[in-house]
Amino acid sequence: MKLRREERDGRTSLLTKNLVPGNKTYNEDLLIRDGVEFRTWDPFRSKLAAAILKGLPDDLIREGDKVLYLGTSTGTTPSHVSDIVGESGLVVGVEFAPRVAREFVENVARKRKNVIPYVADARDPSSYSLTKCDVVYCDIAQQDQTEIAILNCRRLLKKGGRLLLIVKARSIDVIREPKDVFREESRKLEAAGFHVSQMIELSPFDKDHALIYATY
Ligand SMILES: C[S@@+](CC[C@H](N)C(=O)[O-])C[C@H]1O[C@@H](n2cnc3c(N)ncnc32)[C@H](O)[C@@H]1O
Repeated sequence: MKLRREERDGRTSLLTKNLVPGNKTYNEDLLIRDGVEFRTWDPFRSKLAAAILKGLPDDLIREGDKVLYLGTSTGTTPSHVSDIVGESGLVVGVEFAPRVAREFVENVARKRKNVIPYVADARDPSSYSLTKCDVVYCDIAQQDQTEIAILNCRRLLKKGGRLLLIVKARSIDVIREPKDVFREESRKLEAAGFHVSQMIELSPFDKDHALIYATY
């Protein structure tokens, strides 16, 4: 079991089995459970953890999956995705800001054999070569983030694959109600041929953000 839930102080917390025992990516705690090392997964630092605590099924990213991760930043969430897919899986991480990409390479990709980093623009999927993947995870906080996610899925997601799209309402429209923005982005996915299964607002962990889960 790569992902574990625990009740602590009346709250559910998430842990992932550490792929690199002894190594931390941010200020997470390392805990031993049944002789195995796990890392605490902070929902205030990771929107994927927030979405899982708010009802996203645990099994949308699985052991052995190949995940295309757009917008790695320094690697907080990608490191947990790397734990979950395990040694038999792969995380292809794309980040275009050179400084954070460098930190991602040093802190995450060099230490985790199942992570391949690309310093590239997600608007140009031809610049990162890979075969089709099981999951596209997109968290790039751009106005055209949904269009960029669709472009990547058309090129690189298997038929029946899963898209997990983080929508930051304020990146798209600062005036409109976030709920309207989330609905509009869902409609764009439906129009592009996706089946939208879930839309989860991430408050109280993240204000004005939602995760949309769709299949291709
Ligand atoms: C909200 S942060 C990602 C946080 C990360 N997903 C996590 O949970 O740990 C968004 C990142 O996307 C990157 N980004 C934005 N537009 C991009 C693009 N077109 N191509 C690649 N990366 C991009 C930004 O530089 C930033 O580091």
